Amino acid sequence: MRERPFAMEIFVVPDASGTGAVAAGILAAVIRSKPDAVLGVATGSSPLPVYAALAEHQLDMSRVQAFALDEYVGLAAGHPQSYAEVVRSEVTERLGLDPALVSVPDGVAEDPHHAAALYDAAIRAAGGVDVQILGIGHNGHIAFNEPGSGLDSRTRVEFLAGRTRQANARYFRSIDDVPTQCITQGLGTIREARHLLMVVNGADKAEILAAALHGPVSPECPASVLQLHPHVTVVADEAAAGLLGVKLGQVAVRVATPSA
Ligand code: GLP
Repeated sequence: MRERPFAMEIFVVPDASGTGAVAAGILAAVIRSKPDAVLGVATGSSPLPVYAALAEHQLDMSRVQAFALDEYVGLAAGHPQSYAEVVRSEVTERLGLDPALVSVPDGVAEDPHHAAALYDAAIRAAGGVDVQILGIGHNGHIAFNEPGSGLDSRTRVEFLAGRTRQANARYFRSIDDVPTQCITQGLGTIREARHLLMVVNGADKAEILAAALHGPVSPECPASVLQLHPHVTVVADEAAAGLLGVKLGQVAVRVATPSA
């Protein structure tokens, strides 16, 4: 049974730059109406066109607050592949955010479990996330919530799935350099954001995207928690949307009411 009514909008656009333009338009509207909005920012390749397109809006984002989804355990903030570094260059600098208002979990904390709990509390103390940008991994992970993650899980230390380490090896010299652990916002933490904005590109994501949106809600597909959220927007390129039954140029709005 669904917890409550939900609405999900799906925008299908020709290519990755189109996903960036649509998602950036949504974010720009939020920031224009709430200049001190709290954004949840994702790393990975999918959100990069979003940040590039948002920079074009030339908004004053100096009061925007941001929380990253995750970080590798063991990579210090200055490490080129740490998410702290990616967020610094792709988000904070590119968009003109105040670095003091941007948070990333501390991957080199002496006690990473405590750091994770503090991070979760900091998001709540900030009043929660207004819009959470998300990508999706090939195994359905969001942030670093790998299959098996609890649907109500909180920010915590986790092991990375082998498939995720393989996928992310492209950023490192070899797979051996990819950390084995991370701090990730939990699925329960992510679900508390008021609006989830998922950006998906490429035919290799078509199957998992369809499973996440149309398949059973289950820890085996962490991204399926989108189906439990009252306000979700999915922006996909034509290739990624290939199995959704939504055609290029269509906007699908699915509204469901609780069912037994
Ligand atoms: C990473 C990140 C996720 C991201 C995913 C997909 O492992 N932790 O936040 O959504 O991989 O990345 P990409 O968009 O590059 O396919």
